[in-house]
Amino acid sequence: MDIKKPSESLVIMTELVLPNDTNVFGNLMGGRLMYWMDIAAALSAQKHSNAPVVTASVDNISFENPILLGNVVHIEAKVSRAFTTSMEVHMKVWGEDLKKRIKYKSNEAYYTFVALDENGRPAQVPQLIAESEEEKKLFDSALRRRQIRLILGGKMKPDDAVELKALFVKE
Ligand SMILES: CC(C)(COP(=O)(O)OP(=O)(O)OC[C@H]1O[C@@H](n2cnc3c(N)ncnc32)[C@H](O)[C@@H]1OP(=O)(O)O)[C@@H](O)C(=O)NCCC(=O)NCCS
Repeated sequence: MDIKKPSESLVIMTELVLPNDTNVFGNLMGGRLMYWMDIAAALSAQKHSNAPVVTASVDNISFENPILLGNVVHIEAKVSRAFTTSMEVHMKVWGEDLKKRIKYKSNEAYYTFVALDENGRPAQVPQLIAESEEEKKLFDSALRRRQIRLILGGKMKPDDAVELKALFVKE
């Protein structure tokens, strides 16, 4: 199996907020943004795994600032950790008002994808070696985020989440 760097899965998506993308307040709809994020993150996971992927889970997303009609949306996605058949993709999202020359943060999010083989079964993915300090922090904390989502998804017992428990319980 290959070993890959996060930079190899980098995807940068740019979109323009048009009237059909907005809510009654003239701001980008959260659902439309999450759709674009799903595509950017899936492409990132496919670049890492060189296989078709499905979205296994989406972590909570807090929208910090509305993105306005006519503004630009920038989505940057990179695999932050690979497990056996699943990959966590970290995304940063900004809005930009080109006229006013302002770039503002919208949100950060984590989506998890599973690579599938030709029979539609989970397939092993290359491991990831983090390089920069930011990538190393994301890599280390990914284990705890994985435990939270597997507990919430009913796939892990809280007692088995050793690294997560260690945050709260001091022996
Ligand atoms: C995601 C899916 C492939 C998992 O398949 P499964 O048969 O349950 O497989 P497993 O239990 O062996 O898990 C396979 C991997 O998925 C991960 N996984 C399963 N449920 C998960 C969840 N809720 N969150 C994060 N990862 C999850 C497992 O941790 C495992 O990863 P690992 O191999 O790196 O340890 C399957 O549930 C599926 O196809 N779901 C629908 C996907 C889809 O249609 N997405 C679009 C949204 S409608």
